[in-house]
Amino acid sequence: MRRVLVAGNWKMHGSKTMVRSLLEGLLAGSSADGNADLAVFPSFPYLSLAQSILADSHIQWGGQTLNPNPQGAHTGETSGSMLNDMGCHYVLVGHSERRAIYGESNADVALRFSAALDAGLKPVLCVGETREERESEQTEAVVAGQLDAVISSFGIDSFKHATIAYEPVWAIGTGLTATPQQAQHVHAFIRDKLSSLNGIMGSQIQILYGGSVNGSNAAELFAQSDIDGGLVGGASLTAEDFLAIYTAAG
Ligand code: 13P
Repeated sequence: MRRVLVAGNWKMHGSKTMVRSLLEGLLAGSSADGNADLAVFPSFPYLSLAQSILADSHIQWGGQTLNPNPQGAHTGETSGSMLNDMGCHYVLVGHSERRAIYGESNADVALRFSAALDAGLKPVLCVGETREERESEQTEAVVAGQLDAVISSFGIDSFKHATIAYEPVWAIGTGLTATPQQAQHVHAFIRDKLSSLNGIMGSQIQILYGGSVNGSNAAELFAQSDIDGGLVGGASLTAEDFLAIYTAAG
C-alpha cells in the first residue's frame, strides 16, 4: 500500500518569522497517525531553523536542489551531504523552474538525482510538459525522455529510494490545474513505464501531482488510483491552506 505524501515547495519565499509560525501551525494541525505524510522544502537559509523545529516530529524536510558534485570549488552551491547534515530526508531534482530558468538539462538532472542517492537523500524527480508540448501531443514523449535520462545512466533500480512528481509546467502557479483525468493518465503512463522494467518498482513508487493544487481540488486528484499525493507551491505558504490539502488526503 503506497502512502500519500503532501509536500510543500516554498520556492524562494519566507523569512525566519514566517518559517517559525508556518511550521508551528503545521505541527499543531497534523499528526503522525494521519493518513498522509507531510514534508516541506524551505530555501537553504531556513533548513537549520526547520531542522530545529521539526526534529523528532512527524514532518520531514528537504532541499529544493543540490549540486551534483560532492564538494569543491563551486561558489554558491550546496551539496547532498550538506543537506543530509541539515537533517533533510528529501531533495527536489529537476523542478521545471530549475530546468527553464537555470538551464538544467535532462542529463544535469540525472546527475543530481544520483548525487542525492549517494548522499543518502530521497530525490523527488520532477517531470512534466509545457503547454506547447501538450498541445502538440508530446506529453508522453517528454515525460518518457525525462525518466529515460535517469534510467539510461543509473538504471531502473535507482528509483527504489526515489519519489516522482508529475508537474505539468502549464499548471504551475497559473491556477490552471490538470483535471484529475489528465493527471491520472500521465501518472498511469509513468507507472506503466517503470513497471515494464521492474514490476515491483512500478507498483511501489510514489508519484505526486503538482500544479495549482489547493484545498478544493486536492481530494479529487488524490482519489485517482495512480496519484499518491501532491507537490504544492503557492498553497503551501500558509498553514491553513496547506492543512486543507493535508485534510483532503484523508
Ligand atoms: P503551485 O502549486 O504554486 O502551482 O506550484 C507547484 C509547484 O511548482 C510545486 O513544485
